[in-house]
Amino acid sequence: MAPNLHKKLTKPVFVSSRVIHGFGRGSKKLGCPTANLEHDAVQKINLESGIYYGFAQLVDPPKQQRSTTINNNNDHTNTNEDLSIYRATSPSNPIYPTVISFGWNPHFNDVKQRTLEAHLLHSFDEDFYNSTIRVAICGYIRSERKFNSLEELIDTIKDDIRQTKDALREPEQQWLSVINDPFFFVENSAMKMKLINNNNHSHDSNNVHIHNNNN
Ligand SMILES: Cc1cc2nc3c(=O)[nH]c(=O)nc-3n(C[C@H](O)[C@H](O)[C@H](O)COP(=O)(O)O)c2cc1C
Repeated sequence: MAPNLHKKLTKPVFVSSRVIHGFGRGSKKLGCPTANLEHDAVQKINLESGIYYGFAQLVDPPKQQRSTTINNNNDHTNTNEDLSIYRATSPSNPIYPTVISFGWNPHFNDVKQRTLEAHLLHSFDEDFYNSTIRVAICGYIRSERKFNSLEELIDTIKDDIRQTKDALREPEQQWLSVINDPFFFVENSAMKMKLINNNNHSHDSNNVHIHNNNN
């Protein structure tokens, strides 16, 4: 187990996007399904590449979601065990603790542009391609690496998930401003921009905005 080196960002970074297809190895090869965000949204993010923790919400999620842990799809990384506070305090669509990979996936040689992939700590019955996903990036875990084997990558991802749970578990209070942010409550992008303006957040025109406060 790696030491806990995760570090909270001074300001969370919010990004929303349609979920697109990646290379398809998340579920199949790694046992870790990920939602890939669109390139236009990803390239606006001003962060160094790496593995991060945060929260994510599906605006139009698949109809059936399981409330218990499942192991379909070879998914060995996910449980619904604790952290339910975030679902209890969420708006109409649940907000899930999430581990985020942002970068070039150096373990593989075929990634030509920076990607952002979110692995939601929840088991879903179906994939959610074409859904809209909202992601709040809250803290940094480690840099991306090329590993000696696929097993090493898988083990490290498991540890990233552990660190994500650890970082978000306590104290819960400090995350309430993130999960109560208007970003997670708005119904569509026009309304979102209005709310962001009203709340004095800085933002750009492509679904990325950054808090002005220091939470
Ligand atoms: C928590 C987490 C950590 C990751 N760490 C690395 C890493 O260190 N190096 C790397 O090359 N890829 C890393 N990845 C990216 C995976 O390689 C990528 O999710 C996988 O190839 C699936 O991509 P696909 O959706 O395009 O198929 C990580 C992904 C996750 C979710």
